[in-house]
Amino acid sequence: MKILVTGGCGFIGSHFIRVVLSERPDWDVVNLDALTYAGNLATTVDIQTHSRYKFIYGSIVDRDLVDTLVRDVDAVINFAAETHVDRSIQDNEPFILTNILGTQRLIDACVKYQKRFHHVSTDEVFGSLGPMDAKFHEQSHYDPRNPYSATKAASDHLVRAAIHTHGLRATISNCTNNYGPYLYPEKYLSISITNLLDGKPIHIHGDGHQVRDWIHVRDHGLGVLAILERGVMGETYMMGGNAEFSMLETGRLLIRVMGLGDNMVTFVKDRLGQDRRYAIDPSKIMRELGWSHTMTFEEGLRHMVEWYRKNDAWWRAIRNSSAYRDWYGRQFGN
Ligand SMILES: NC(=O)c1ccc[n+]([C@@H]2O[C@H](COP(=O)([O-])OP(=O)(O)OC[C@H]3O[C@@H](n4cnc5c(N)ncnc54)[C@H](O)[C@@H]3O)[C@@H](O)[C@H]2O)c1
Repeated sequence: MKILVTGGCGFIGSHFIRVVLSERPDWDVVNLDALTYAGNLATTVDIQTHSRYKFIYGSIVDRDLVDTLVRDVDAVINFAAETHVDRSIQDNEPFILTNILGTQRLIDACVKYQKRFHHVSTDEVFGSLGPMDAKFHEQSHYDPRNPYSATKAASDHLVRAAIHTHGLRATISNCTNNYGPYLYPEKYLSISITNLLDGKPIHIHGDGHQVRDWIHVRDHGLGVLAILERGVMGETYMMGGNAEFSMLETGRLLIRVMGLGDNMVTFVKDRLGQDRRYAIDPSKIMRELGWSHTMTFEEGLRHMVEWYRKNDAWWRAIRNSSAYRDWYGRQFGN
């Protein structure tokens, strides 16, 4: 089996490639990545010389490149995306190009060559839950509320349209918030860990009562592998870690795990259009494909903190870049 993974120099895609190379000894992986600010060759340093791995620099929007690569593989797994909500509010164009047009390019090539396609999506396409609402499930209606989630929702619909119109052999997964090694330090947990390691406080948006459902990134990768191998064509699978915590609870747990005090919290202005709660009911993938998350949130968090302690060269190179410092200054003012 030879697969094309897109966005494999990013956070989740790189972990998925690690899962495949270790769990499927006869699979070959081609990684197509445009190396945007979020894609980093240092994120794949441990797999770059693997005999069953090949990296191709390029964009999923490039029709000819995508056509050439898709023709030569058995399946395509799409992780490539612009992924940060705040950035999508500041400038939506890269989101529209990659998340919508890029996904359509992959679909077109998979339709043309009749290849298996798996599309990785997010729970954010379903909008926001109230505190007592049932968790999102496969029949939840779409209600995206920021440019990032709107473009991901559009990409999900394009995949379903191709399944219906062209008989595309495809599956979709919608997953909750991922955490673990190599999380780019623009997301809540990685900014917080790297701040705390530098003796700086963590930033809580608004009142900190926004709830997120956390899943370890390796568990997400194992879930995508299960869907690729055993998923029913045309179906959607929801993945979550059954670990709902408010941002404030998450921050306090992190501070405790790192052996620090509650004075390491500061409150900052809430993000525009902030969603209050995301949570996923993963019972379909558990029941039908035998997948389950393997790590509790606290175990995974300890493991993540340990990784950031040992790999400070990786995150310091990002945090010391002028582009990152400009972005951080605009977000948090220092
Ligand atoms: N991070 C989460 O918590 C989460 C949760 C659910 C779903 N997802 C989805 O999982 C996928 C991966 O997310 P992530 O957190 O790893 O993102 P990321 O931002 O860490 O990585 C995205 C990768 O895609 C690459 N990329 C961007 N535009 C590209 C293009 N035009 N062509 C080729 N490559 C391009 C980047 O260089 C980067 O390597 C996304 O589709 C995202 O919507 C993420």
